[in-house]
Amino acid sequence: MKLQNIIGKASGRKLRLNPEVSYLEYLCKLSDLGKEQVDGQDRLHCDVAYPSFKVFVYVTDTDASNGAFIYAPGSHKFSLKRLWIEYKMSIKYYVKHFKGDIKPEVLSEDDLKTLNIDEKSMEGKSGSVIIFNTMGFHRRGNFTNSQKPIRQVALVNYRYLDSWANVIGWEA
Ligand SMILES: [Fe+2]
Repeated sequence: MKLQNIIGKASGRKLRLNPEVSYLEYLCKLSDLGKEQVDGQDRLHCDVAYPSFKVFVYVTDTDASNGAFIYAPGSHKFSLKRLWIEYKMSIKYYVKHFKGDIKPEVLSEDDLKTLNIDEKSMEGKSGSVIIFNTMGFHRRGNFTNSQKPIRQVALVNYRYLDSWANVIGWEA
């Protein structure tokens, strides 16, 4: 089955435009192994509060020691408890944003429990494909291996699905 068909079925949307494709590389300095990452993408977060799909293709073999993608299965579901947590996070983020800090907010232990977060590391060989809903909680994994301080992925982003351009099929 073609990727476009899988995303179409998962999203329930008609895909009239091509997705955005990019290459992402994160290099962890050896002195930063095991530490928090500079861009904050190792903090558990959701990208948006509505279903939105991304696809990662590992360019190199990737495991839990060199930043394998981490996802919490089932965390994409909407609930009133989640709405409250997202509201609290958005206020904190808004305040931090003015100070130039755009890293995701750190979830409290209580919030993690409420959201029933159970992180799964998505390890895979080069060419492995991960399709995920960015409404679910996810993060970049940690780097602990000095032999492999880099993660390289191709990203296929379907964020445009809810845009007017996709609704009317207009491509700039
Ligand atoms: Fe993200």
